[in-house]
Amino acid sequence: MTRTPVNVTVTGAAGQIGYALLFRIASGHLLGADVPVKLRLLEIPQGLKAAEGTAMELDDCAFPLLRGIEITDDPNVAFDGANVALLVGARPRTKGMERGDLLEANGGIFKPQGQAINAHAADDIKVLVVGNPANTNALIAQAAAPDVPAERFTAMTRLDHNRAISQLAKKTGVAVSEIRRLTIWGNHSATQYPDVFHAEVAGKNAAEVLNDEAWLADEFIPTVAKRGAAIIEARGASSAASAANAAIDHVHTWVNGTADGDWTSMGIPSDGSYGVPEGLISSFPVTVKNGAYEIVQGLEINDFSRARIDASVKELAEEREAVRALGLL
Ligand code: NAD
Ligand code: LMR
Repeated sequence: MTRTPVNVTVTGAAGQIGYALLFRIASGHLLGADVPVKLRLLEIPQGLKAAEGTAMELDDCAFPLLRGIEITDDPNVAFDGANVALLVGARPRTKGMERGDLLEANGGIFKPQGQAINAHAADDIKVLVVGNPANTNALIAQAAAPDVPAERFTAMTRLDHNRAISQLAKKTGVAVSEIRRLTIWGNHSATQYPDVFHAEVAGKNAAEVLNDEAWLADEFIPTVAKRGAAIIEARGASSAASAANAAIDHVHTWVNGTADGDWTSMGIPSDGSYGVPEGLISSFPVTVKNGAYEIVQGLEINDFSRARIDASVKELAEEREAVRALGLL
């Protein structure tokens, strides 16, 4: 049976994450080894030539699943019929730029992209925002797309999730595959809260296995939360291959589901669960089935976790206020 290709739009395609991402989408890692894809690459005019170079390389791979590549600087073309949109391109913070300036500059990107998604994307569109500040950029795009169900707009905290799993596996001496039910709560920022209290290490409760709150507070949480900055310090550029890998994981899980008994972390519009104000795009533990996610309910939140979740959510609420004041919501 020949399957209809899935239209995947990638913004910021000529950037470093784009370069690490596109080849894996085209080789079947995003959606599955039997799912053909058509790529739409959105760039700003200065990025078009480099995007063309990447497209030449994609051609040269002769990927059997790749059924077409279109390159454009027009969001209305890029999102036309899009089934999956990976919003990677964003305005990086430059010297002397205040947070408000960054939010405003990104509003100029994510508002028109949300409008173009609203007007042109396919009915089943799924959006992942990677470009920072990812949660609030997702909120801006979502607000500009009132005809698209709000839950289709998500922000990436899977990289934080994967980082936390890796740190926990190292500390406890098990394989990463033995870590389950880890949660990232809140914002993709230094306030994020990686929660091990419901996580399992080789089937046992992680917090009990560790039995070391000081390590959690002083080592684990800051290591995970500040990992992005540590990568920038070491590499002289922000994480790219690991970010692309996490984007692949996020969408793959969203489409294909979580494993039985496990969950993942996604930045999603809050329904008010766990005291997170409705509408904020915050990271939660989620299970996924048949292409739809659900927040894991009923987890007991201890005082240690409550304070940290609240701090990150407070930051998200402040970011929402800031973009509201800029007229972006
Ligand atoms: P980069 O600077 O290498 O590439 C960004 C690309 O986006 C550039 O090619 C630029 O021309 C393009 N671009 C800018 N504005 C655009 C627009 N309006 N439309 C289309 N393209 C546009 O950056 P990168 O390293 O690829 O990172 C991209 C973003 O991802 C950054 O905001 C970074 O902070 C973020 N990031 C997020 C996570 C996460 O976990 N959520 C992890 C790593 C990086
Ligand atoms: C990361 O977590 O690696 C990035 O979000 C860091 C950054 O500021 O680009």
